[in-house]
Amino acid sequence: MIKKKSLLGALVLAATMAFSANPAQAAGETAHAYQQSWTFSGVFGTYDRNQLRRGFQVFKEACSSCHGLDFIAFRNLSEPGGPQYSEEAVRALAAEFTVEDIEAEGGERPAIPADRWPDPFENDQIARDANSGALPPDLSLMAKARTIHQEFPWWVFNYFTAYQEGGADYIYNLLTRYAEPPEGEELQPGMYYNEFYGPIVMPNPLSDGLISYEGEGTPETVEQYALDVAAFLQWTADPHMVSRKQMGFRVMIFLVLLAGMMYLVKRKIWANAH
Ligand code: HEC
Repeated sequence: MIKKKSLLGALVLAATMAFSANPAQAAGETAHAYQQSWTFSGVFGTYDRNQLRRGFQVFKEACSSCHGLDFIAFRNLSEPGGPQYSEEAVRALAAEFTVEDIEAEGGERPAIPADRWPDPFENDQIARDANSGALPPDLSLMAKARTIHQEFPWWVFNYFTAYQEGGADYIYNLLTRYAEPPEGEELQPGMYYNEFYGPIVMPNPLSDGLISYEGEGTPETVEQYALDVAAFLQWTADPHMVSRKQMGFRVMIFLVLLAGMMYLVKRKIWANAH
């Protein structure tokens, strides 16, 4: 009896936790989040290499002056499943940066593909001083650290649609919803207003036409930049998503085949038992 009770208790606890779980406490609590359709959504979703390249370009040109990407080494940008730049391109990209190295002459040397993406600020204090006291967080895992808030019953469907793009949706909404503050709301000096986030220290980093994409046909708009950089940050946070999904699918096929075989074996064994 006691066992049953504690099981029930655990279920109730889990249910209340699921109801109240809202990782995006800083923001989306009140604002509705617009969900996007991503190439990497669903069970068969994959990253779009060209989109990741554009997203990397947006990160480099519009975000990397404030935000780090600590968990990404230059060479990761040439690996399968990612933006897949050629090794020469990655070597040339790395060489644009200098990194500290106590063994090098003068304590510095040009970066090589094995180096991590260099931080824009020397330390957190300098970063805060440059940003009205707020620390621009590292973006490598940001797409995993944030998600959007969904009202019941909508999040229930996430289990069936394998929805895991909350982080990308969050970043997209954050970047596209800078606005004038609502009437009567006074902003502190050095603060901006974002419909989705509320008052924010980060100034709007994007504007139409800010970044010119190679080739033609991709719109150069805030909307597109936000989609691309959100996709890129989803990849930095979860670079092995595609292989994980493929493995999951193979395991399901294996289990179905195994179940069929077990059924045939059972029939054979029991065939003569009357
Ligand atoms: C001028 C500096 C600056 C630039 C450029 C900048 N940011 Fe930020 N960002 C900040 C600061 C400061 C914060 C901390 C937010 C705050 O406290 O208001 C922040 C916070 C964030 C957050 C976290 C919000 C949260 O939920 O906590 C994300 C995501 C983000 N930035 C993405 C980006 C992206 C993507 C770009 C490029 C398109 C970018 N930022 C460009 C300064 C910057």
